Amino acid sequence: MTKTPKDKSPTEQGLRKGLTSYGDKDFSLFLRKAFIKGAGYTNSALDRPVIGIINTGSSYNPCHGNMPQLIEAVKRGVMLAGGLPMDFPTISIHESFASPTSMYLRNLMSMDTEEMLRAQPMDAVVMIGGCDKTVPAQLMGAASAGLPAIQLITGSMLTGSHHSERVGACTDCRRYWGKFRAGEIDAIEKDEVNEKLVASVGTCSVMGTASTMACIAEALGMTVPGGASPPAVTADRIRIAEETGTRAVQMAKDGLTIDKILTADAFENAMRVLLAIGGSTNGIVHLAAIAGRMGLEIDLNALDHMGNETPVLLDLKPSGDHYMENFHDAGGMTTLLRELKPLLKLNAMTVTGRTLGEEIDAAPPSFKQDVVRPFDKPIYPRGSIAVLHGNLAPGGAIIKQSAANEKLMEHVGRAVVFENAEDLANRIDSPDLDVTAEDILVLKNIGPKGAPGMPEAGYIPIPMKLARAGVKDMVRISDGRMSGTAYGTIVLHVTPESAVGGPLAYVQSGDRIRLSVKEREISLLISDEELAKRAKENPVVVPSAERGYKKLFLDTVTQADQGVDFDFLRAPNIIGKVPGKK
Ligand code: FES
Repeated sequence: MTKTPKDKSPTEQGLRKGLTSYGDKDFSLFLRKAFIKGAGYTNSALDRPVIGIINTGSSYNPCHGNMPQLIEAVKRGVMLAGGLPMDFPTISIHESFASPTSMYLRNLMSMDTEEMLRAQPMDAVVMIGGCDKTVPAQLMGAASAGLPAIQLITGSMLTGSHHSERVGACTDCRRYWGKFRAGEIDAIEKDEVNEKLVASVGTCSVMGTASTMACIAEALGMTVPGGASPPAVTADRIRIAEETGTRAVQMAKDGLTIDKILTADAFENAMRVLLAIGGSTNGIVHLAAIAGRMGLEIDLNALDHMGNETPVLLDLKPSGDHYMENFHDAGGMTTLLRELKPLLKLNAMTVTGRTLGEEIDAAPPSFKQDVVRPFDKPIYPRGSIAVLHGNLAPGGAIIKQSAANEKLMEHVGRAVVFENAEDLANRIDSPDLDVTAEDILVLKNIGPKGAPGMPEAGYIPIPMKLARAGVKDMVRISDGRMSGTAYGTIVLHVTPESAVGGPLAYVQSGDRIRLSVKEREISLLISDEELAKRAKENPVVVPSAERGYKKLFLDTVTQADQGVDFDFLRAPNIIGKVPGKK
């Protein structure tokens, strides 16, 4: 059990925490104070609760482009509440500026976060993140570090306008790229729209992974109420930042450590919200990773059952029509949580020191809006994500059914196989590719170890010759992930992945595959004997590396059902499942 500040001796608070080892505690404090006084601090300032503020600003990360304003507001909030703010940097990751893929670096960022929270003296921490991998990395790191922690989201970007049509990253990025590939727009218009898709700093403006994780962070109780939805460049976002700083000081005083918030009930609430917002499939992987740090396992089959009773209520792209700024105008998570209230674990504690139920009751009254649907008038009658099983995915696979094509969700087709991302790039647009719209595209070796880092390459493009003929969707299967901003009949996270010898490794072009979302089935229609024969004749060589982070990654990364976390970072003991017992 984590000790609270009340349990600790005064020497373990504020600047006195975690003294550097010189063999003489008093000297260590003397030295620390001498150095910090070099920055002009007084003893009065240094005697206050210390609130760390994680600065993930980076020229490489426009999703965090409002970082200076947010830090200033958090500091104001901390000082108004009598604390001492101390901002410090950690790794920052942006989706488009991380090679080979941002997911490869998420665990590194979580380690950086955890170790800097442990190493530096602070009584609570405000974690500022927004772009897809940053919020999960921070929650994972803070969950392991164990001190009072509160999440501040950077906020979504504004939408732009192209030829009077409203556009936003990144659903519309994919849509316009699809038009360009299909020859519907020319190179000049492609370049024009490129200027308009991202209208300001901030995170993607649809229900992609960043927005999903923002909503999940609030559902987990890790942000102040209303913390998920204000766009990055608004006064509301700055007010949330100030409030977050103020709240962090009280959390430090109350000893409101993260283990009191990240409980099985909190994760169950997050799963409900993930389903009801039509959230990114990546949300499952990140939730599994964060829960794993707390010794909890996400039960994928239970998530599937929860989907039967949790409709999609949020009308946001890619499942619906609106953008994050509309969700904010509609009351944000407050409106959504009010609709979901009968399904939520209302006793779950939040960073405010009050339960989720108390926060919902204390929220301002509802008003007329058309972004969050009433529970009995959903935009999709079931949860957005279905969990599939079968001989092709013994450990499970998922499909975002709310963004899939109804007709293709019950489909048997011939496999057209690509061995890896390079093979895909080389052949997908070849006029000679033997493919029809009824075929099923299969991509191997883009799982956790395969690529490595489980890139968002599961959104396999429609072959050029079919796209030009007007084909908009096909069944696509891989062991990779897909951006939350993408749509289509796409089976993802096939587990175990092909690179470790999962059945996906042995699929051959011409095999028949059955997808039945109704039956929750993904099956390769060959005999067990034939599958075993192929495995024996062509055993896979599991990827490895000689040195460095890549070696650490390939030696220790887990599969999608365990969150693609490193095995040694997960809690040593599993203490329960999510959802827990009724
Ligand atoms: Fe950062 Fe989409 S690229 S949130």
